Amino acid sequence: MTDKTEGTYGAASRLNHWIGAVLFGALLIVGFILSYDLLPDEQAGEVRNLHKATGTLLLLFAIWRVTWRIGQGFPAAASERTGWELALSKAVHGAMLLTLVVMPVSGVSMSLLGGRPIDMYGLFTIPPVAEMKDLARSLRAVHGYAAYTLATLIVLHIAGALKHSLIDRDGTLRRMLTGKSPAA
Ligand code: HEM
Ligand code: HEM
Repeated sequence: MTDKTEGTYGAASRLNHWIGAVLFGALLIVGFILSYDLLPDEQAGEVRNLHKATGTLLLLFAIWRVTWRIGQGFPAAASERTGWELALSKAVHGAMLLTLVVMPVSGVSMSLLGGRPIDMYGLFTIPPVAEMKDLARSLRAVHGYAAYTLATLIVLHIAGALKHSLIDRDGTLRRMLTGKSPAA
């Protein structure tokens, strides 16, 4: 199931991509809802706990994905691409993978270094390790900037996927959906 040799994405990459897309997308939306105070106070606390627990789980997911991608590399582009298109897609994919790690790392560290625990769905609690409020504030700012960056990258990413499937019709979306190599 190596990605490179078959010119497509293997089952592990596709599973990781689509579960990740749904969960990261949901956390982005919930995060913005929380930070713009769109929920009544009595709901916000519970939703924030769920955001933190799910984000913490996604840290494992992000590490899995990035180490997998570093190990396997990206499959070659599905069709002949000019220099700037290849460069843009590499830059967007690389920046996305980076922000996919920065989001949970900044989230976990702002909580645990800011004196706040992480309640894992009521099953167990990860206790805080320090109470460094200034550092936690900076990490909160990183979390916010990374969130806006990720949201922008996702818009570019979806625009790219639509261009490939509607204009180029080159099998890029198909290989991420079905694993079928574009050459097949
Ligand atoms: C893994 C992916 C994650 C994503 C995509 C995500 C996304 C977001 C977004 C979009 C915001 C609003 C940012 C802003 O407007 O400044 C936010 C806020 C926040 N996030 Fe995350 N987050 C993630 C993980 C985590 C983790 C692991 C924790 C903590 C363990 C966490 C804790 C928080 C907290 C406490 C806030 C502030 C909420 C409020 O203002 O009430 N996040 N997150
Ligand atoms: C409707 C939403 C989405 C569509 C249609 C979509 C489509 C695709 C496609 C077709 C590829 C393969 C590109 C290629 O063959 O070169 C891809 C790769 C990728 N996508 Fe998405 N995607 C979506 C959402 C997301 C989201 C929300 C994220 C991030 C949370 C994301 C992160 C990535 C990354 C990092 C890659 C590079 C390959 C990898 O490491 O898995 N995608 N996406």
